[in-house]
Amino acid sequence: MLEKNISEIKDSFLTDIKSVNSLKDIEEIRIKYFSRNGLVSQLFEQLKETAKEEKPILGKKLNQLRDEVSAHFNEIKERIASRQSAKEKKIDLTLPGNQYLIGSKHILTQTLDEIKSIFKGLGFSVATGPELESDYYNFEALNFPSDHPARDMQDTFFVSKDFLLRTHATPVQIRIMEKQAPPVRAIMPGRVYRNEAVSARSYCMFHQVDGIYVDTDVTFAELKGTLVSFAKQFYGSDLKYRFRPSFFPFTEPSAEMDITCYLCKGNGCRICKNSGWLEILGCGMVDPNVYKFVNYDSEKYTGYAFGMGIERIALLKYGITDIRIFFDNDIRFLKQF
Ligand code: DAH
Repeated sequence: MLEKNISEIKDSFLTDIKSVNSLKDIEEIRIKYFSRNGLVSQLFEQLKETAKEEKPILGKKLNQLRDEVSAHFNEIKERIASRQSAKEKKIDLTLPGNQYLIGSKHILTQTLDEIKSIFKGLGFSVATGPELESDYYNFEALNFPSDHPARDMQDTFFVSKDFLLRTHATPVQIRIMEKQAPPVRAIMPGRVYRNEAVSARSYCMFHQVDGIYVDTDVTFAELKGTLVSFAKQFYGSDLKYRFRPSFFPFTEPSAEMDITCYLCKGNGCRICKNSGWLEILGCGMVDPNVYKFVNYDSEKYTGYAFGMGIERIALLKYGITDIRIFFDNDIRFLKQF
């Protein structure tokens, strides 16, 4: 009798569980089969009344039924519960989506890319050299007398007596000329270091692009033509400029190029110290003394060179007043470019 009941209840459970669709149905099944007076519990009651010798076998069957049926029940219950909770998680499609930040090139990299592309168009190649330099390349071969103030500990980060962090990109000129006979025409971008107090106008590390062109019959007029062409392509064709005499140990004659102040448009202001002009680069004809260090014949070859600070070039283009902002990595600044 009990045996028959066991198989009937199993069949009935399997039929019932098939049509379960909600947590409410689940609860009904729980009550019907597994509550204190449920059908499964009733079978255990019936077991008490069966003959002693049948008890072990039927008891075993009953336990089996209970285990099987409740495992099946729990599985269905979990499935329905998780389906229900997904439905209950309401999604508001009007909310803004997650924003992913897209990286972009740093404004200094963009500026350098533009400088490179202009000079490539003018026939220059691109060369680089080490940031850790020897005194020889940074100063001596560039015709700095040994008592020149730029060698002073104030400006230069010395690493040892003979090695230092280069203070300008100009030593790469020597490295190129040592390796290559004229004609040479290259620009040399890179990081440079100065042992200066950090302020709105100066930083202990910044970037420069130097350039050099040596060949037979290179003239100062070509130097001016090249730099004016560069500046007009970079800042716009209505740019006003001027060349002022200056001094660098490695060029003779030397000059500096100024452009109209971006802030006051030449009327005079705090940024340009009321002159209306801002310096953008140094330049000149390569000093014949420099050729001695690289075994160039200074009777045969002439050349020009120039050097500019990339931060400065960018400051003037975008009207930025503090050099430190380039290195703060403040996303509010960076994402404007
Ligand atoms: N090296 C110079 C500086 O750091 C800039 C410079 C001036 C570079 C004239 C040159 C040059 O190549 O011809 O201030």
